[in-house]
Amino acid sequence: MSKEQESISNFLSKLSEIAEKVNEYLDKWLPQNEEEYSANLNEAMRYSVMAGGKRIRPALTVLTAEAFGFKGEAVYRAGCAYELYHSASLIHDDLPCMDDDDLRRGKPTNHKVFGEATAVLAGDCLMLMPYEWFGKLGEYGVSEDKIVKIMKIANEAFTYRGVIGGQMLDLRYENKKIDQETLERIHMGKTAALLRAPILTGAVLADANSEQLKSLKTYSHKIGLLFQIVDDILDIESDAATLGKNTGRDVALGKSTYPALLGLDGAKEYAKKTYNEAILAIEPLGDKMNDLKALALYLLQRKS
Ligand code: IPE
Ligand code: IPE
Ligand code: MG
Ligand code: MG
Ligand code: MG
Repeated sequence: MSKEQESISNFLSKLSEIAEKVNEYLDKWLPQNEEEYSANLNEAMRYSVMAGGKRIRPALTVLTAEAFGFKGEAVYRAGCAYELYHSASLIHDDLPCMDDDDLRRGKPTNHKVFGEATAVLAGDCLMLMPYEWFGKLGEYGVSEDKIVKIMKIANEAFTYRGVIGGQMLDLRYENKKIDQETLERIHMGKTAALLRAPILTGAVLADANSEQLKSLKTYSHKIGLLFQIVDDILDIESDAATLGKNTGRDVALGKSTYPALLGLDGAKEYAKKTYNEAILAIEPLGDKMNDLKALALYLLQRKS
C-alpha cells in the first residue's frame, strides 16, 4: 500500500468511528417521534437527519478539536448541531421550488414523503435548533464567552453571507453565463461556509490561537471549494446507486458549475490545485494537522 493510500484508509476508519458516534448522539438528542406537540414534525426531521450521509461537518469539529487536544461530548454536541443545519439545507435544496429532486441519501426526499409544507417546516426547525444545541454547551462547562463566539461563527455560515446567500445566487445564476469569480462566490456561500463553521467551532472549543484560526479558515475555504467542485463532477460521472441522489441534475437545471465553466478535465485540474492550496494553508501548524490533511485527500478522491 502506498503511503497516500495508507493515510486515506486510516482516515476512513477514523471517519466511520466518528460517524457512528454522531449517529448515536443524533438519535439520542433529536426529539422523539412520539413526543406530544409536533409528532409529525419530529418524524419528518428524524427521517432526513437519520437517513445517513457522510457526517463530514460534525467530523470536522471533532477532528479539529482533537488536533488541538480537546475531546469529549461537547465537541459532538457542537458538531451535530451543524449536521442538523446541513440536513435542513438538503431538505430545502430538494424542494420543487429549488432543485426539485426526489432522491436523497438513498431515500425519497422529505417533501415526497411528508408533503411540501411539512418539509419546509422540518427544514426551518432544523436550521434553528443548532442555537438550542450550542446553548447546551454550557452544561459541559464551555464558557458563555465561547458559546457566543460559536453562535456568531455559525450564524455567519447559516445566513446571507453563507448557505442561504449562496443558495440564492445558485438559483439566480441558473442558465446564465458567469465568470469564475462569481462561481466561486456561489460555492463559498452554499458549501464552503458550512465547512468553515464546524472547523472554527472545533478550534474555538480547543482554544486555538488567532494565527491557527487564520490558517484553518483558509484551509476550510479551500476544502469547501474542493468539496463542491467534486460534487459537481460526481453529478456528471457517478450514478444514483453510488451517490444516493439523482445525477445529471446540474445540466438539466442549467446550474453554474466548474465542469460547465472549465470542462470536466479543467474542473479536475482545478480540484487538484485547490487541494494543494488546502494542504499548504495548514502546513505551518505541523503534524497535528495530519487528519485534516488526510480529509482533504479523501475529499479530492471521494466517489460518493
Ligand atoms: C451534499 O453534501 C450537499 C453539498 C454541499 C454538495 P454531502 O455530500 O456532505 O451530503 P451527505 O451529508 O453526505 O448526504
Ligand atoms: C447544494 O448544492 C448545497 C446545499 C444544500 C446548501 P447541490 O444542489 O449541488 O447539492 P446536491 O447535489 O443536491 O446534494
Ligand atoms: Mg442546489
Ligand atoms: Mg441540489
Ligand atoms: Mg450537486
